[in-house]
Amino acid sequence: MQTHEIRERFTEHFVKAGHAAVPSASLILDDPTLLFVNAGMVPFKPYFLGQQNPPYENGTATSIQKCVRTLDIDEVGITTRHNTFFQMAGNFSFGQYFKEGAITHAWTLLTDPVAEGGFGLDPERLWVTVYLDDDEAAEIWEKKIGVPAARIQRLGMEDNYWSMGVPGPCGPCSEIYYDRGPAYGNEGGPAADDNRYMEIWNLVFMEFERGEGDGKGNFPIVGELPKKNIDTGMGVERIACLLQDVDNVYETDLLRPVIDAAAQLTGATYGEKQEDDVRFRVIADHSRTGMMLILDGVTPANEGRGYILRRLLRRIIRSARLLGARGETLETFMTTIMDTMTPSYPEILDNRERITRVAVAEERAFLKTLESGTHLFEEAAAQVKSTGRDTLAGQQAFTLHDTYGFPIDLTLEMAAEAGLEVDMTGFETAMAEQKARAKADNKAKKHAHADESLYREWVDNHPTEFTGFSELTGDATVLGLVAGGQAVTQATEGQDVEVILDTTPMYAESGGQLGDRGRILTGDAVLDVNDVQKIGKKLWIHKATVRSGGIDLGSKVRVEVDGDWRHGARQAHTATHLIHAALRQVLGPTAVQAGSLNRPGYLRFDFNYTDSLSPGQLDEIGLITNQAVDADWQVNTVETSLDEAKKMGAMALFGENYGENVRVVEIGGPFSLELCGGTHVEHSSQIGPVALLGESSVGSGARRIEAYSGMDSFRYLSKEAALAGGLATALKAPTDELPERISQLTEKLKAAEKEIENLHRQQLAARTGELLERATRIGDITVLATRLSDGVSAGDLRTVATDLRGRLAGTPAVVALAAADGTKVPFIVGATKEAVEKGVRSGDLVKLLAGYIDGRGGGKPDMAQGSGADVDGLEAGFAALRDEIGKF
Ligand code: ALA
Repeated sequence: MQTHEIRERFTEHFVKAGHAAVPSASLILDDPTLLFVNAGMVPFKPYFLGQQNPPYENGTATSIQKCVRTLDIDEVGITTRHNTFFQMAGNFSFGQYFKEGAITHAWTLLTDPVAEGGFGLDPERLWVTVYLDDDEAAEIWEKKIGVPAARIQRLGMEDNYWSMGVPGPCGPCSEIYYDRGPAYGNEGGPAADDNRYMEIWNLVFMEFERGEGDGKGNFPIVGELPKKNIDTGMGVERIACLLQDVDNVYETDLLRPVIDAAAQLTGATYGEKQEDDVRFRVIADHSRTGMMLILDGVTPANEGRGYILRRLLRRIIRSARLLGARGETLETFMTTIMDTMTPSYPEILDNRERITRVAVAEERAFLKTLESGTHLFEEAAAQVKSTGRDTLAGQQAFTLHDTYGFPIDLTLEMAAEAGLEVDMTGFETAMAEQKARAKADNKAKKHAHADESLYREWVDNHPTEFTGFSELTGDATVLGLVAGGQAVTQATEGQDVEVILDTTPMYAESGGQLGDRGRILTGDAVLDVNDVQKIGKKLWIHKATVRSGGIDLGSKVRVEVDGDWRHGARQAHTATHLIHAALRQVLGPTAVQAGSLNRPGYLRFDFNYTDSLSPGQLDEIGLITNQAVDADWQVNTVETSLDEAKKMGAMALFGENYGENVRVVEIGGPFSLELCGGTHVEHSSQIGPVALLGESSVGSGARRIEAYSGMDSFRYLSKEAALAGGLATALKAPTDELPERISQLTEKLKAAEKEIENLHRQQLAARTGELLERATRIGDITVLATRLSDGVSAGDLRTVATDLRGRLAGTPAVVALAAADGTKVPFIVGATKEAVEKGVRSGDLVKLLAGYIDGRGGGKPDMAQGSGADVDGLEAGFAALRDEIGKF
């Protein structure tokens, strides 16, 4: 049976039964809680909530609603039944028929013979589920419809309690499943296998309203709806899959033609390879969703609805390329899907040209991106693999995104295909940093940064000579001044200026070591140098502030490095080499450096390693490092060719580019041998103590060690010692007994908290006994309606009420409790089974009470709860409640 006919039969069945046929609403409704309409009931929400009266003659309606759900996008093509666009056929009753009506309607349509207007499904293959305590529904299925009890299963909130995932109407539901047979999975009904047993229809008994919580059944019921309603949803594509006897929802009459068109276009064959099949199905599914979204006015964009459309279209394009397509593909897919969908959606006819235009424009833009991005991705992936790693750095993923417009989900997908992971933490950090930079840039607009072309002439013709390995001072000539992004000829007091010199002893930031701090002096003028950066590896830029006097282009100047700064930076940098060497001794050669930073007194070292380090390993690294300091090894540097350096066994580090001639830093012979352009101490003992602060994770597969060096180590260690000493005094225990002492105290505290909780419970229990004395009799019902002391919480009320109801069990009894808890008045009503049998409804009594204390609430006949605001109305409320009970 063709899908179009399935739709017609559905509508006819319900129209015959008096339902108004309502056309599908647009996928985009003005509901802030939803990106797209995702269920048939969405347009009817105000009628369920009682905000509007349904404008249908019999108070019933039927529709076949267009729905989009992209939460399970990764399942598309892999399972047999996930569509991002689908048609939900439903019937709705607003306070008219309820459970029995809904169940009978669905059953008849599904099982009536085809010749009589039904779908002709074999009743023996249908299973149903109901909500845990929904005896009523279970009984209708068994007694009225005749489904054997063995094929009726009870499931909990997560499966059989339906809401939109947000506050609003909700209720228990009953689902109908079709057994596709052993070829599709295990026996045992839908509770055991939801692949073999395919859900085809969901009947929701919509009678409650839910509050905030998650979508999976963890939400409070805040009240009852004004009427008991019915909302159902039958999956048109799933029925089509069954009635057309095809394997999955992508092979039905609506989507299969797209798969065939894709096969023709790409030269690949459907049904040969699982991974190709998934691509074919993604193309079919997404083409339809994309087309229907454009039909309803969505256009590709970088956020919100437009982003979802963009993502769908891009996934089609990439899937087609992976199947072998080279040129444009979307026009073919759009044309094909428009042809199959037009019988049900004739409005497509007037929009064919527009839909194609939007899709093709997006495809052209994306193909350009794809070309440059794929190339870059492959390069990056090869690089990662050649170093034996399996994670693409967050920064690389970020560059693909930032510079080449390559969406991160595509990078993730391509990485997965290449057997790689992506360091998402690193990616997100890079994204966050970029946002922060953009903000700062906006602020700093008036100090516009000079672009690099400004420096080109100096880089090419006047590279800076660096003398800082051996000198801390030197004389130089000013070759350039840059202020506010412009080349200038002079700078005066108070101005920030970049100074370019012919020669300098100042170290420019590189290899993790920060740039030097120091001064530039000329005549009366003093400039503070706050940072030194390198451009094109050749030109030193001194970022300075003119503290006094002025500086001119061509001035002769004296340059002085801040000796303390340099001393500290050298200590930290050499310490980094020692830690690196110690780390490899302890962890083995797979711990490869990934980055480092050293500044006076502090260093951090990042390396690739999957596990966290144990305290023992960290101790050992600290010990080896300090032994190397103590050994007072000479630190030797040699300039040599890269080949020669490699022969010596120096570690050439990934990601760094070295020129022909390299500098090798050697400490303790084979202990540490690294290519490095930084400044170092002459003997390892000059580093002073190195104190490891600990290690942490910086993204997947990367760890970080942080440490202090020199006097900062000393300061850190003595502060720690003082802290431990202070604790020892406070706890009156020697420092080495502190850990045990603290764990004893924690234990004691836990025991004390438990004890308090027990006492609290006992108090409540004792109160329960006293409370029973306040009970009175109204007719043959025992009634205990009373206010508890102030400050009793809603949770405690429930404990007490449940306890009291238990004690009164066996007789008809009602318990109503309330308390003033801050500004709120929580209250609760419970009824024994015998009272419920007499007709008492706790939910109704809670509503009655609510009316007196400005509150709201709801629940079940045996227990219902609420919260009010006006404690003064309580006595009158209890009186009314007693009157009401008198009527039973
Ligand atoms: N509203 C119900 C659902 O979407 C029928 O499953």
